[in-house]
Amino acid sequence: MRKKIVAGNWKMNKTLHEGIELAKTINRQVEENEVIVVLCPPFIHLSGVAGIITKDSLFAGGQNCASEASGAYTGEVSAEMIRSAGADYVIIGHSERRTYFNESDEIVNKKVKLALANELTPIFCCGEVLAERQAGKHIQIVKSQVEKGLFDLSPEDFGRIVIAYEPVWAIGTGVTATAEQAQEMHKMIRDHIAEKYGNTVASNTSILYGGSCKPSNARELFLNSDVDGGLIGGASLSASDFMGIVNAILDK
Ligand code: 13P
Repeated sequence: MRKKIVAGNWKMNKTLHEGIELAKTINRQVEENEVIVVLCPPFIHLSGVAGIITKDSLFAGGQNCASEASGAYTGEVSAEMIRSAGADYVIIGHSERRTYFNESDEIVNKKVKLALANELTPIFCCGEVLAERQAGKHIQIVKSQVEKGLFDLSPEDFGRIVIAYEPVWAIGTGVTATAEQAQEMHKMIRDHIAEKYGNTVASNTSILYGGSCKPSNARELFLNSDVDGGLIGGASLSASDFMGIVNAILDK
């Protein structure tokens, strides 16, 4: 059975003190059940956040990692460092990285491999922009991102991937994909994985939805058969909103 996962991507928000306080509150409130909860703070907070976690179902993750293993790359943070800070997960290929930092599918693919080599679970992001959806190209775009980012992995390595479908037009806009739009894309991704890696790998892959997910719409999104949880931005900055979303998946 695939895992239910709710991950909070704090993006570039919270001072160190605020971040630690938020993580402490969430750590207190997380219940030990089948839902995996992941906190992805800024790098500088990562070891502090990882250090306060006492719940078996709560994990820390990075928001990105370098595309090189180590060396003279001023300002970069490697997958090995992220692992050594106490993280178990790392978000890779977020649309903000792809757009503002020019991350190509090839760079994203290198990062996925470095994450896997360092015992991190990649949360691989994909998603179309509005113009691509309006042009009817959204399926083709997401298929291509998944193929180029992931399809040269061995079946064993692919089995360690979590996918997050985040339609770019829904990120931070307050406009959420409808339950039908999310389910259509998640099913397409799962079918595409099945064609490449077989039904067992596909049905074991957790596919999360991201984009203006809130306590008020999370349940409707999560009830879809191919939506296995969420990657949450803005609403992960408040413990009560985030926990509302975590609890929404228990109804699934
Ligand atoms: P919002 O939940 O703020 O739309 O952000 C989603 C996201 O980008 C999570 O990675």
